[in-house]
Amino acid sequence: LWLALGIRRRQAGEPVIENGFIPYLGCALQFGANPLQFLRSRQKMYGHIFTCKIAGQYIHFLCDPFSYHSVIRQGRHLDWTKFHFATSVKAFGHDSFDPRHGYTTENLHQTFLKTLQGEALPSLIETMMGHLQDVMLTSDRLSPSEDEWQVDGIFAFCYKVMFEAGYLTLFGKELGEDKCHIRQAAQKALVLNTLENFKEFDKIFPALVAGLPIHVFKSAYSARENLAKTMHAENLSKRHNMSDLISMRMILNDSLSTFNDVSKARTHVALLWASQANTLPATFWSLFYMIRSPDALKAAQKEVRKVLRDSGLTMDHDEPNMLNLSRDQLDNMPVLDSIMKEAMRLSSASLNIRVAKEDFLLHLDNQEAYRIRKDDVIALYPPMVHYDPEIYEDPYEYKFDRFLDEKGQEKTTFYRNGRRLRYFYMPFGSGVTKCPGRFFAVYEIKQFLTLMLSCFDMELLDPAIRVPPLDQSRAGLGILQPTYDVDFRYKRKENH
Ligand code: HEM
Repeated sequence: LWLALGIRRRQAGEPVIENGFIPYLGCALQFGANPLQFLRSRQKMYGHIFTCKIAGQYIHFLCDPFSYHSVIRQGRHLDWTKFHFATSVKAFGHDSFDPRHGYTTENLHQTFLKTLQGEALPSLIETMMGHLQDVMLTSDRLSPSEDEWQVDGIFAFCYKVMFEAGYLTLFGKELGEDKCHIRQAAQKALVLNTLENFKEFDKIFPALVAGLPIHVFKSAYSARENLAKTMHAENLSKRHNMSDLISMRMILNDSLSTFNDVSKARTHVALLWASQANTLPATFWSLFYMIRSPDALKAAQKEVRKVLRDSGLTMDHDEPNMLNLSRDQLDNMPVLDSIMKEAMRLSSASLNIRVAKEDFLLHLDNQEAYRIRKDDVIALYPPMVHYDPEIYEDPYEYKFDRFLDEKGQEKTTFYRNGRRLRYFYMPFGSGVTKCPGRFFAVYEIKQFLTLMLSCFDMELLDPAIRVPPLDQSRAGLGILQPTYDVDFRYKRKENH
């Protein structure tokens, strides 16, 4: 009967199992309503590790940060590719990237490291800064003026600016760097169209990851396919100033895979999603919390002023696209770093997942060991750490300087029960699956904040506004969005 109902029974040496009451779904609804509360309550009942059935899948949740290492280190028992490749196929509809499935021999991980890190960064940063200034300072859409305040939602504003600048940085410009107004307007319209399609598709992303077929969602399906159409090789090859990431992926798609044209295009849509879906809400939370906290705003303004002064830079309104910050300069902005880290600590909710390659014993830090079966999923849920009051005092409060030490430099020592933690901040994932775009992500948000601080006066329409709740429908997938937008007003600083 157990088997017929698809219910698993705990065997000796295994973690406690909770099957939930609903067939197939198991605990999915309780987990989905408030993952942190759900996991905390189970941790209290069962201890550091327990197993829950969620939408047909048995997941072992490991809740002790001192034991994270046994999952994060790339041990021979655990596979990180299986889940990631399968999820990407479900959401984007391309053929599998798993070399074992025979469609490609590309080592995707290596491609990401080569084109998003190290020597690839300076040109990504420079291109991004150019596009950011284009969008923020010269674009008609934001209409920044010295005389009049503009009112907008912070999320809407961040979305517009970061999407356009980030998209053009990775995918280049369709119509090149033409100064003709008509062609510039056409270029804008194309970006706007891509943004609308992205939004429409992104809305249903959690449903796709949960296993629903995209055909159920007609408009999201056509949005995804519209995006893919713009990313067919013949269209991409006409674009100017494309990033190494996309041009290298095009070459490797052609030389190492048997993907057809549609599949190739969909792999690029996957990258568009990866590069934007977390960055947009992370930018929102960073800007929102910074504006909302007078101390944060003051400290950030001081830091930006100093960086610009020390480098002999000014924001000259008559000559847009003048400001360029080097990697060194961006690396020396600990206040902005802390402002962003604290914003992401409070809003990130990505599940870190590994799959067991074989039956094995998982050893915890407290000397206990648990039997794990082949193909079982083990998950870490970083908000358990990010909201732990023993690690972060008043964990629900935004403290802009939480990640600064007494000398005003980056704070890297955090403790639990008097023991130093290795894993205390994980919005970018962990170990081998850690986000390969994380350095660029931090730089681009920092560049955005620097420009906001140096070019605009800004304030919340309602300074006492409450923090909007996190949209939990995306829990597990990365940085959560706010359930509603918050209005602010901004205006160009007067020229001096
Ligand atoms: C994967 C977070 C921005 C490229 C991931 C993962 C997380 C993440 C949690 C999954 C890690 C895992 O599965 O354990 C973030 C956050 C960002 C951000 C919080 C912004 C604040 C970016 C940007 C890019 C990027 C800007 C590219 C330009 C990728 C790629 C993957 C990934 C390609 C898939 C890696 C793989 O499967 O091998 N990111 N990301 N990310 N991210 Fe990011």
